[in-house]
Amino acid sequence: MNFPSGYRVIGVATLAAAIVVGTAAAWAGGGQGADPLRGKPLATGYALGTKTRDGLGKYYFGREIAHFMSHVGAPWLERPERDREERPDLVMKALNLQPGQVVADIGCGTGYFSWRFAQAVGPQGKVYGVEIQQEMLDMLAKAMAARGVTNVIGVVGTPEDPKLPEPVDLAIFIDVYHECSHPAEIIAALCRSLKPNGRIVFIEYRGEDPGVPIKPLHKMTEEQVKKEMSVQPLDYVETIKTLPRQHLIVFRKKG
Ligand SMILES: C[S@@+](CC[C@H](N)C(=O)[O-])C[C@H]1O[C@@H](n2cnc3c(N)ncnc32)[C@H](O)[C@@H]1O
Repeated sequence: MNFPSGYRVIGVATLAAAIVVGTAAAWAGGGQGADPLRGKPLATGYALGTKTRDGLGKYYFGREIAHFMSHVGAPWLERPERDREERPDLVMKALNLQPGQVVADIGCGTGYFSWRFAQAVGPQGKVYGVEIQQEMLDMLAKAMAARGVTNVIGVVGTPEDPKLPEPVDLAIFIDVYHECSHPAEIIAALCRSLKPNGRIVFIEYRGEDPGVPIKPLHKMTEEQVKKEMSVQPLDYVETIKTLPRQHLIVFRKKG
């Protein structure tokens, strides 16, 4: 996870700890020529290369994968200025969720977006908040209870598989995909979990824009996202550019 100027709010020590925790977990079982996270041979599109400070040294279609953000950094997800920086109101408008739909919020963190999705799909709908860190799911449960939200369900996923219990209308990655250690596997698993016509949406800080104050590994270009999705059973739909710093890139299940 990146800690740009906007990350100053929760203090350098906390942030440094978050990076260290994420790094140690990410490299458990590493080895040259093998997937550093699993010890298995690398799948198509992957390569090992130079490990930079913010990355795993594992590359996918030429992009170094970033460290995931530890739960230690969770207060940053709830920073007061986030509403202004990320405009969740515009995200919700762009997604146009319908009552009764099922949403998978992959890498939901503390649930900054999950409760908004829950409101939009209403009591007949459901939101699965998927996380690889139990600590995040504990914070999610607490935050949803405090808001009186009952249709957000926490799910422990693995880096390769979100373990969704039912098909979904929308799977969304908000500031998450760039730090997924197994992007090919997790997207393939999600494609199997999408309802016919279901969508996968990525919200990422714009890699094309040097004015966006985020470190390079924590941004993605539209071209890179499209390249990585081109090997999946997905059709590109559109890129929504109404957000101040991010783009919202929409794909739909093929066929
Ligand atoms: C920067 S946080 C974003 C949290 C949330 N989406 C938000 O916008 O507030 C990234 C989160 O993604 C989670 N994550 C990373 N890889 C994941 C994966 N493969 N499956 C599920 N969660 C993942 C991390 O544990 C971390 O909590």
